[in-house]
Amino acid sequence: MSDKLADKGSEKDPKPWTVSVLTLFPEAFPGVLDVSVIGSAKKNHLWALETIDIRDFSANKHRTVDGPPAGGGPGMVIKPDVAAKAIDSTLSSQDGRPLIYLSPRGAPLTQKRVRELAAGSGLIVFCGRFEGLDQRVIEARDIEEISLGDFVLAGGEAAAQALIEACVRLLPGVLGSHESTVEESFENGLLEYPLYTKPAKWDGRDIPPVLLSGNHKAIAAWKQAQSEEITKARRPDLWEKSRSAKKETDHERD
Ligand SMILES: C[S@@+](CC[C@H](N)C(=O)[O-])C[C@H]1O[C@@H](n2cnc3c(N)ncnc32)[C@H](O)[C@@H]1O
Repeated sequence: MSDKLADKGSEKDPKPWTVSVLTLFPEAFPGVLDVSVIGSAKKNHLWALETIDIRDFSANKHRTVDGPPAGGGPGMVIKPDVAAKAIDSTLSSQDGRPLIYLSPRGAPLTQKRVRELAAGSGLIVFCGRFEGLDQRVIEARDIEEISLGDFVLAGGEAAAQALIEACVRLLPGVLGSHESTVEESFENGLLEYPLYTKPAKWDGRDIPPVLLSGNHKAIAAWKQAQSEEITKARRPDLWEKSRSAKKETDHERD
């Protein structure tokens, strides 16, 4: 079911961060975006969602949206005329929102890009299906392609929900406290340190004693060392990047 866009907004009550999702499966939304803090934030108008059924823009009585790939090959391709009409229907309300196509060929999504997108006025997101979208629409409408990772989903809907959720949790007022995001994985270029909660002993395993010491300086040092170890071991690419960034900052300071 489509969610109606919230008020167009006024100075007193500004328009919330707004996402328009173009999809062949509007029933897949809001999906996970309706639960927990993200769902509450939507109810509280901190952000708004509208879904647009791409099939509504087919000129044909069978509501066809796809055709066989030019040059042969498996599957079907989303037609450029139908996709462009669906995209253009959002343009009047676009107000500078970036147009994004979720695609395994896109630039891998990073927390840095998520922060940039969350700082804007919202998104227009095109969810692919079949083999994907005709290349000419991507070029003609200057669409940014974003990938969730090096794997292939059946469609862009789950990827769109992941992208939207990552952005919405960074919007002001969505999470309880600013602290909730600053120490997370990727925020300082490193993966997060391991987390523990009571009981102090579980299944023969202890919480590292430093975390129960009350010594804030020692705890901070432990967290930093753990973050560095885990990043080095699991993501040497991130570790290299974080080292080069640190060298640059140190160099600028000298
Ligand atoms: C079956 S996939 C198409 C795969 C495409 N033929 C390829 O080989 O790159 C259908 C749709 O799922 C979405 N999708 C699949 N994998 C994705 C990923 N890793 N990130 C973002 N979207 C993805 C895209 O919208 C894509 O158009």
